[in-house]
Amino acid sequence: MSKTKKTFFCQNCGAQSDKWLGKCNSCNEWNTIVEEVVHKETKNDRLQLFTANKNAKSNAPILLQDVGLQDYPRIAVPGKELTRVLGGGIVPGSLVLFGGEPGIGKSTLMLQLALRLKNLKILYVSGEESEQQIKMRAERIGVTTDNCYILQETNTQNIFQHIVQVEPQLVIIDSIQTLHTAYVESSPGSVSQVRECAAELLRFAKETNTPVFMIGHITKDGNIAGPKVLEHMVDTVLQFEGDRNHIYRLLRATKNRFGSTNEMGIYEMNGDGLREVTNPSEILITNRDSPTSGVAISATMEGNRPMLIETQALVSSAAYGTPQRSSTGFDLRRLGMLLAVLEKRCGFKLGIKDVFINIAGGISVQDPGIDLALVCAILSSNEDMPIPQDVCFAGEVGLTGEIRPVNRLEQRISEAEKLGFKKIIVSSYNLKGINVNSYKIKILSAGKMEDVFELIFG
Ligand code: TYD
Ligand code: MG
Repeated sequence: MSKTKKTFFCQNCGAQSDKWLGKCNSCNEWNTIVEEVVHKETKNDRLQLFTANKNAKSNAPILLQDVGLQDYPRIAVPGKELTRVLGGGIVPGSLVLFGGEPGIGKSTLMLQLALRLKNLKILYVSGEESEQQIKMRAERIGVTTDNCYILQETNTQNIFQHIVQVEPQLVIIDSIQTLHTAYVESSPGSVSQVRECAAELLRFAKETNTPVFMIGHITKDGNIAGPKVLEHMVDTVLQFEGDRNHIYRLLRATKNRFGSTNEMGIYEMNGDGLREVTNPSEILITNRDSPTSGVAISATMEGNRPMLIETQALVSSAAYGTPQRSSTGFDLRRLGMLLAVLEKRCGFKLGIKDVFINIAGGISVQDPGIDLALVCAILSSNEDMPIPQDVCFAGEVGLTGEIRPVNRLEQRISEAEKLGFKKIIVSSYNLKGINVNSYKIKILSAGKMEDVFELIFG
């Protein structure tokens, strides 16, 4: 009989400790150490796990030059967005963690993937929903397939037994937090369980060369619930973000061993599942009959993809003593910095005003090239002077009030031109190597914030 062992785990970072502590020594969080019962396994228990699978490979050192890639063609996935984010398709034997807030559409996207990959045998393991619920969702999505097996199970040993029988070519786990393994005695969702189950899936994926997708929940602060080691273990971490009250969802890779983490995919949640958005710029800009103050269009880059985004600002006199600053889709601290620059360098008295910022479409932007549009939106609202609708912006604002260059300016200019903008305002330090006359759109440049106001309002 194997012996039962108790250890303490930090629920935040997964650090292990021999005794209870009020504060975790490794991540400094308070009250996160919890006792978990760990069942010591005997070595042989696990080894038989996949021997039944004929694809299992043995490991011996091999010269790098002899490693062939032809046996590992990527599995093509339906849809351009997912393909791009994954770096060109699913890599056999890869373990992908797919995180997102509850209700954002993780299960929907994964089921859609399972239904649309018609020529692969897929096992969709759900620990959260019944077969009927999944069937109902599949009917909603409206795609039929005869190659997708549904399994409602949470015990990993049972799951692997079914895997040996079904021999799926792709396994989807919904979700890793509901699984439990017999080798660890703590409750499902606890650090040691999550880590152990993921380790078993990792071993399965690598030994049998079967790709595995695991859905993972996200904690309040936006991290994937469970230990940080989970992110180290997997090959790819995908995040599904967005505002549940908006229809747009962003798919990003935050880690990818087989591709770039710059890529992003956009989806729209409809009554019949998630639909890809191929021309995001067109939907993120509202068509108005007349220009409105407080609106400025930014030519941003999301990863490698140019996108025109509407930034909105509302500046009003503070009703109470302390002015409010609130921002949706933009870093609040950066907003504070931009306001300080406007106050100190450009002489606008915004310190006594409430400032509200919104990035249209419920998406969040990390590209600093959005600064210039945001600042112009704030000033436009402050002065109540609309910015002409055919003008857009691309530039970062520095602490001295200078306009700094942005990356991939040509791509931004082309996208703005494609969407029918007449003028784009960029940093004057950005024009090296760009032939201004080769574009139909008028490229205006400015070095300082003051010059920009001249260009817009004349
Ligand atoms: P779900 O995939 O269950 O989210 P998660 O697995 O991330 O928790 O999707 C949740 C929401 O999506 C749910 O509130 C309903 C909505 N939805 C649609 O709007 N259209 C659809 O076709 C489907 C399947 C779901
Ligand atoms: Mg779900």
